[in-house]
Amino acid sequence: MKEIKSGDLRSMYLNFFKDKGHAIIRSASLIPENDPTVLFTTAGMHPLTPYLLGQKHPAGNRLTDVQKCVRTGDIDEVGDASHCTFFEMLGNWSLGDYFKKEAIHWSYEFLTSEKYLNIPVEKLAVSVFAGDEDAPRDEESAEIWQECGLKKEQIFYLPKKNNWWGPAGITGPCGPDTEMFFDTGKPKCSPECGPQCDCGKYLEIWNDVFMQYNKKEDGTFEPLKQKNVDTGMGLERTVCVFNGFKSVYETDVFAGAIKCIEQLANKKYGESDEITKAMRIIADHVRTATFMLGDQIGVTPSNVDQGYVLRRLIRRAIRFMRQLDIQKGEMVKIALHYVDFYREVYPELEENRQKIVDELTKEEEKFSKALEQGTKEFERVVAKAEGKTIDGQTAFRLYDTFGFPIEMTIEFAKEKGFEVDVEGFREKFSEHQKKSQLGSEQRFKGGLADHSEKTTRLHTATHLLQAALRKVLGDEVAQKGSNITEERLRFDFSFGRPMTKEEIAETQRLVNEAIKKAMPITCREMTVEEAKNEGAIGLFGDKYGEIVKVYAMGDFSKEICGGPHATNTSELGEFVITKEQSSSSGVRRIKAELR
Ligand code: SER
Repeated sequence: MKEIKSGDLRSMYLNFFKDKGHAIIRSASLIPENDPTVLFTTAGMHPLTPYLLGQKHPAGNRLTDVQKCVRTGDIDEVGDASHCTFFEMLGNWSLGDYFKKEAIHWSYEFLTSEKYLNIPVEKLAVSVFAGDEDAPRDEESAEIWQECGLKKEQIFYLPKKNNWWGPAGITGPCGPDTEMFFDTGKPKCSPECGPQCDCGKYLEIWNDVFMQYNKKEDGTFEPLKQKNVDTGMGLERTVCVFNGFKSVYETDVFAGAIKCIEQLANKKYGESDEITKAMRIIADHVRTATFMLGDQIGVTPSNVDQGYVLRRLIRRAIRFMRQLDIQKGEMVKIALHYVDFYREVYPELEENRQKIVDELTKEEEKFSKALEQGTKEFERVVAKAEGKTIDGQTAFRLYDTFGFPIEMTIEFAKEKGFEVDVEGFREKFSEHQKKSQLGSEQRFKGGLADHSEKTTRLHTATHLLQAALRKVLGDEVAQKGSNITEERLRFDFSFGRPMTKEEIAETQRLVNEAIKKAMPITCREMTVEEAKNEGAIGLFGDKYGEIVKVYAMGDFSKEICGGPHATNTSELGEFVITKEQSSSSGVRRIKAELR
């Protein structure tokens, strides 16, 4: 097999599915819009949820894309050979169009055809769903794999734990899947060895999910109106497996960044385990931070939600940079390397180049000195400690005075053989914690599939709010984030100072006036260029000719959006702004309710 680079795989995949009648769509933002269940986009299907549930997608019912994803469940694992906090997921979707037969045949063709990955068929193994009380054994997929030429021994039946995907949140579309693995040819580690085993014989490359169920809040599964296919192939991982590399950090994706880190540190990757680990952490965290800052919606470092995760990543990267003797101010160089590497695929990085530089510089400025002092303080604490526990008060001081995320204190402590009294930390933190706990409770309550009438009305009100803000504050206002629960909307927007009481009152009045006018809400499909010409606001795709939906409410609001929306503004009720506050620098946050 010839060597393959990430760019080759990306374009080969998208073009393959384009040839099979799929529209190539742009990667959605890393910040999920109107999805209260998670902080970041975690899979290609995630932004497509409304369409998997039956809404019509403007680009048609066969889609393909490469989606930016962030998974932060195992930040502390990063540094080993395979964990990354950011990755790209290639995917193709059928929205009620083709199903198992086509999906499997195309997967097989892409994996084995000489024109594409050219993997010998005997090097493949697949798993299919073994069946349980929720859904039957997937003999159909197994038969299709055999039709393609796989032998029975290459097909493994596995339970829900392994062969069921989703929902991404608590409720939503999900179903049995068939996963594809590269068989490295190593001997089986035991008679039971199969794709479910992590001994390294079988390496996963692709997942075809047959989404035919909707998981409900009571835990039961109801058949979906339409049968969908959702597939996902991790780009970095597949490049790694295909080339027989031991680690994703050996792929071209990281090669340039690692070289840059080597030069800055004047050390070699691989020189020692410690150096390798630190370089991987820096390479991963700076890449993720660059994508979060350079996103079409984007976040900036803060102490809550996405901003906190970003801060944690940047600060952890700084810590390991200092360990390698890389000085203050150098992080930007690594970040800009990524901007240059990815700018053609993700032009938003280039558009946000200055923001990336400014925010990283600011955060490094803020944290560098504190890290130095905090580390000294930590050493003192450890030297004085009687037992092997860092008490809550100290952990809180490290957080409050030196800006150590609690996870960093835990990591430092672990390295010294100490534990941290996290409970005690939480108690000290209670004021702040009360707020963030409330935040996460609300986030998990709604469920990904929650497009209830209430949330739909609140989402519609968000359009009116943005239009009103632009009338009151000017065109500088642009959406920076939106989050909706059953109770309220939250809207983040660019604006450089707090709003005055009068401006808040006027914004609220304009929205209520628009509601009272009982304007019908219309939706039209058009190209991005047409939408721009009509003065629509919203997140523009950047592909020429890309079709988008434009929702209009009289001449008050015109916005590109995926929906769903109310049909008339009069359905909304009374709009009340309950809070106007800072979200991060240059970004304000409004919370509002419909009563
Ligand atoms: N949703 C599935 C996954 O994330 C396939 O795209 O693996």
